[in-house]
Amino acid sequence: MATEKPVTEQYQADAFSRRKDDLLVIHDLHTHFFTPDGVVRALDGVDLRLKKGTTLGLVGESGCGKTVLALSILRLIQDPPGRIVKGSIIFEGTDLLGLDEQEIRKIRGNKISMIFQEPMTSLNPVFTIGAQIAEVILLHQRHRASTKGQAMDMAVEMLKMVGISSPARRINDYPHQLSGGMCQRVMIAMALACRPSLMIADEPTTALDVTTQAQILCLMKDLKDEIDTSILLVTHDLGVVAQSCQEVAVMYTGNVVEYALVEDIFALPLHPYTKGLMRAIPRIGARQEGKTLHAIAGNVPTVRDMPKGCTFHNRCPEVMDICRTEYPPVFRPKADHVVRCWRYVN
Ligand SMILES: Nc1ncnc2c1ncn2[C@@H]1O[C@H](COP(=O)(O)OP(=O)(O)OP(=O)(O)O)[C@@H](O)[C@H]1O
Ligand SMILES: [Mg+2]
Repeated sequence: MATEKPVTEQYQADAFSRRKDDLLVIHDLHTHFFTPDGVVRALDGVDLRLKKGTTLGLVGESGCGKTVLALSILRLIQDPPGRIVKGSIIFEGTDLLGLDEQEIRKIRGNKISMIFQEPMTSLNPVFTIGAQIAEVILLHQRHRASTKGQAMDMAVEMLKMVGISSPARRINDYPHQLSGGMCQRVMIAMALACRPSLMIADEPTTALDVTTQAQILCLMKDLKDEIDTSILLVTHDLGVVAQSCQEVAVMYTGNVVEYALVEDIFALPLHPYTKGLMRAIPRIGARQEGKTLHAIAGNVPTVRDMPKGCTFHNRCPEVMDICRTEYPPVFRPKADHVVRCWRYVN
């Protein structure tokens, strides 16, 4: 079981106090799953902020809590076994955790939309893509399209915007008639149909080949500027972060262990876990230079073998005695750079 954490006033007061350009401020968020094996602390005190107009990359190894964080923001955690047990998610000044089901439904798919990893399984196979986009528009955008015909016209516009050729014909296609990349474009069209303030994209390009991945990332970037949407981009690929994000949050065992501007984290990663992730990025020419690909030793711990102290200590090449017993507080070396590691605490 994880040890009780020290209250980190410094973190709360400095690092994530609300600022004027904040779109989303998450504070001390705990989402737990109550399983027969014990309580899985999928989110264990997450602090995070997303500025208006930026793309924030959320990275970390499998199982560190990225999807649970995305689903928690949308209040889509299935209860049971899951529950948000503590914390706040302030979006445009409102705590989403204080809203009732009807109020959160107005925000979901409207002010905050989500695209998932597997476009094929996210689209309904028995309806045409036009009908599916029109449904979203009619549900949330009655003021812009009140009849099915108007919604279909808007759907054609949206498909054009996401770069699908012959959109007037394509709206009559079913998902199985489209390629994976085209389906993901349709998902993006649906996610943006309501001009959301925030789009959460959970590994949107993982299932695609690299060329299509680059196209989809470019498309998201262009549309973000056009529609003025902020993006929370969940990925395990630091290359994608370098290409698409302005800020990055690194997650490990349900917590943000480092948060920084992208240029800062690539120039000078601080947390030993972030350094490990950086070293694991394959580089062309590394083999000729005699360098091997690094992997972080060991595996992400499970609820059964969660270490005491810092949850990364038994994989950490820079471990110190205190790391084995005490959970680390946060350190803020400069504005917009936060790291949760004993090495940086005076
Ligand atoms: N329904 C559930 N019941 C029990 N545990 C769950 C459930 N959903 C998620 N978890 C646990 O929560 C933790 C975080 O999972 P999550 O899916 O958020 O990881 P992730 O970072 O998105 O990983 P990946 O990169 O593989 O998508 C994991 O330990 C997972 O086993
Ligand atoms: Mg996931």
